[in-house]
Amino acid sequence: MSEECAFVIFGATGNLALTKLLPALYHLDRASHLEAGLRILCCGRRPFTAEDWRAQVREALAAKARGGLDLALFERFARRIEYFRGDLEDAELYRRLGDKLATEGSGNVAFYMSVGPEHYGPVISHLGEAGLLDEARGWRRVVIEKPFGYDLSSAADLQRRIGRHLQERQIYRIDHYLGKATVQNVLVFRFANLMLEPVWNRNYIDHVQITHSETLGVGSRGGFYDTTGALRDMIQSHLLQLMTLVAMEPPVSMEAEALRDEKVKVLKSVRPITKSAVHAQAFRAQYAAGSIGGQPVPAYGQEERVDPHSVTETYAAIKLYVDNWRWRGVPFYLRTGKRMAEARSMVAIRFRHPPLQLFRGTPVECMDPNWVLLGIQPEESLRIQLTAKQPGLEMRTRQISLDAQFRGGQTEMTEAYEDLLLDVIRGDRSLFLRYDEVEHAWRVVEPVLDVWAVERDYIPTYPAGSWGPRESRRLFDKEEHRWRHTLEPNEVMD
Ligand code: BG6
Repeated sequence: MSEECAFVIFGATGNLALTKLLPALYHLDRASHLEAGLRILCCGRRPFTAEDWRAQVREALAAKARGGLDLALFERFARRIEYFRGDLEDAELYRRLGDKLATEGSGNVAFYMSVGPEHYGPVISHLGEAGLLDEARGWRRVVIEKPFGYDLSSAADLQRRIGRHLQERQIYRIDHYLGKATVQNVLVFRFANLMLEPVWNRNYIDHVQITHSETLGVGSRGGFYDTTGALRDMIQSHLLQLMTLVAMEPPVSMEAEALRDEKVKVLKSVRPITKSAVHAQAFRAQYAAGSIGGQPVPAYGQEERVDPHSVTETYAAIKLYVDNWRWRGVPFYLRTGKRMAEARSMVAIRFRHPPLQLFRGTPVECMDPNWVLLGIQPEESLRIQLTAKQPGLEMRTRQISLDAQFRGGQTEMTEAYEDLLLDVIRGDRSLFLRYDEVEHAWRVVEPVLDVWAVERDYIPTYPAGSWGPRESRRLFDKEEHRWRHTLEPNEVMD
């Protein structure tokens, strides 16, 4: 159960609030995780009446509620909700909000910044000046969406600005990827199974691939995306976080600070990419027209609110080395793209080749290496790919896999935001980012961003619905390395 509090959403009429936050709160309510007195104040600029807003929320929930919207439950949920109209830039909004929270006796308040990143600093300053971040009568927490800054220096500016009003323990920098079940499972899988630790290092692991591919394009987010690009949108945040979990040393405990200390150490150990190495370690591309699920889709440049001559990347791949005792010399390939052949997130860990002289004089020519495959979405699974003998008289081998479905059958899927919103209300910061994590993640990608920012006259393209350009293979350390696209043991890799 959560604590009694007010949950204030700035930007409540936007896409994130309607498609993720409100459905997550509804599902938490349905699972009896919300205290009876928990109130949700939805702040927006549009002139909705209470009735209009209720209809909006109902429509949004109907599209997202698992198993369909339960009307009795919706009635209960709707009683928690109130629309609060105002302009984010107007100090008056915060005075009225303060009065409202005081009359309702809400001591504990979570403020969710579901607004454009340019508003984080100003809104937090207003909250601070209106005394709304003062914890005299209960806790005050602020949830900040990514991106935290646009680069290293803007992240530092934002941190300085919000640091005037907030203590670090009040700040919840959210990376919703950390709320995904398999992402959390990486830690359990690694540290609760003794057999893995001895092989989880450079002596046995050849390389690691972390992939997030989507079939969707930029949709209605063209304006935001065109100034952001795939490297900032996915790699600086979600994929680097995932890499830290795969690569980190065992933390002393699962407490927030212990976990974050180890994650930061990984980021600090990443070998800085020099300007002259950017082309060897990073690759970008943009989707051209193509087809997804048999339907034609336009090129990125034709999307709504995108500059037709834009060279913003919708595909980015990067090779990193973690220069510590465990990982020295093991490449980590991180890759993401929109409008790809399939929507999938996974971590693929390839082991080294076993020595083969034992099989001299048999038809076994080249044994495939082992892989550990962690499926994050759509399936939540763990697969270990091994070599076994083919049935029959000859000594031939085939690839088999040991599979575990983390969730299947009766278990209800939950969305990442459900875990994380509950953590905010409970005050558990272990799955949120500390500022130094954000800072070091910017340090990792900044040299690439700098070079790409000046090379503005050309970007390679890939047809929508493909796995991205083959030129991205230039990142590979070895001729035999290939992108792994699926969890299938017999995948033909290209
Ligand atoms: C967001 C990015 O943080 O993550 C989006 O801004 C991306 O561009 C999304 O589509 C992917 O996350 P999920 O959970 O929807 O796969």
